[in-house]
Amino acid sequence: MRVLIVGATSGIAQVVVRLYARDGARLLLVGRDAAKLQAVAADAHVRGAAAVETLLWDARQWERAGEVVRRAREWLQELDVVLIAHGSLPQQAELWHNPVRAIEEFHITGTSVIALLAELVPVLEAQRRGVVGVISSVAGERGRAAMAIYGAAKAAVTAATAGVRGHLAQYGVRVITIKPGFVDTPMIAHLPRSGLIGAMIASPERVGRRIYRALQRGRPDNLYVPWWWRWVMLLVRAIPEPLFKRLRM
Ligand SMILES: NC(=O)c1ccc[n+]([C@@H]2O[C@H](COP(=O)([O-])OP(=O)(O)OC[C@H]3O[C@@H](n4cnc5c(N)ncnc54)[C@H](OP(=O)(O)O)[C@@H]3O)[C@@H](O)[C@H]2O)c1
Repeated sequence: MRVLIVGATSGIAQVVVRLYARDGARLLLVGRDAAKLQAVAADAHVRGAAAVETLLWDARQWERAGEVVRRAREWLQELDVVLIAHGSLPQQAELWHNPVRAIEEFHITGTSVIALLAELVPVLEAQRRGVVGVISSVAGERGRAAMAIYGAAKAAVTAATAGVRGHLAQYGVRVITIKPGFVDTPMIAHLPRSGLIGAMIASPERVGRRIYRALQRGRPDNLYVPWWWRWVMLLVRAIPEPLFKRLRM
């Protein structure tokens, strides 16, 4: 099994790395922090990965997405599994008066993923097989005051991923849009662990294992994780806009 994981240092992705390492996969791990990436790679070695290579890439340099895919082809030859996991959740209040940072955040979470997908499409068309998982978010399903830019980037990722899925289906390539709710990783360290939100927070182990299973099966097309977020979001999307804007969620 040859596996490319972008954003390999993410709390969720690390669980997936460990599971593929246990399977004896050959891994290319991509991230922006050399020390963190080396620690994840060393752990994968110990757990049984056949071979592990790392690549430094900051998603702000989304124009360099082609280098990631080129390196993946050199090191892995074929791509059996691709997981795109990186993302950034800024404090929205800091972005309202700073359009440059707002757009930079959009590039990290949105543009860079679309750039990677655009680079991957011809490779996957040619090999006519493989599975791609892209971690989007339930936040992409309805614009919210508290995460306007993050939600916009995730909405773009969700739409682009669906389009790529439609395009690559004719080549036998599966594409999974992964939509987690709250997951207990550094990304939401600022959220309360008590009350309703606390009760809705899933562990990265649960979420990572579910993603691994979906990648192994090549389905479903849209993976809400935990599963009940599908129904929560159905309700959230049904709230009329005049009411929704007053809720200031
Ligand atoms: N946690 C949640 O509640 C939640 C909910 C829905 C969706 N998600 C999505 O799940 C995915 C994984 O996040 P997580 O929950 O595992 O959070 P996390 O542990 O904070 O991971 C975020 C990842 O994104 C990377 N990243 C941030 N800025 C980057 C940049 N400029 N260039 C390259 N990489 C960058 C981080 O790298 P470093 O390790 O170097 O910081 C880290 O690997 C993300 O796409 C996130 O949006 C998370």
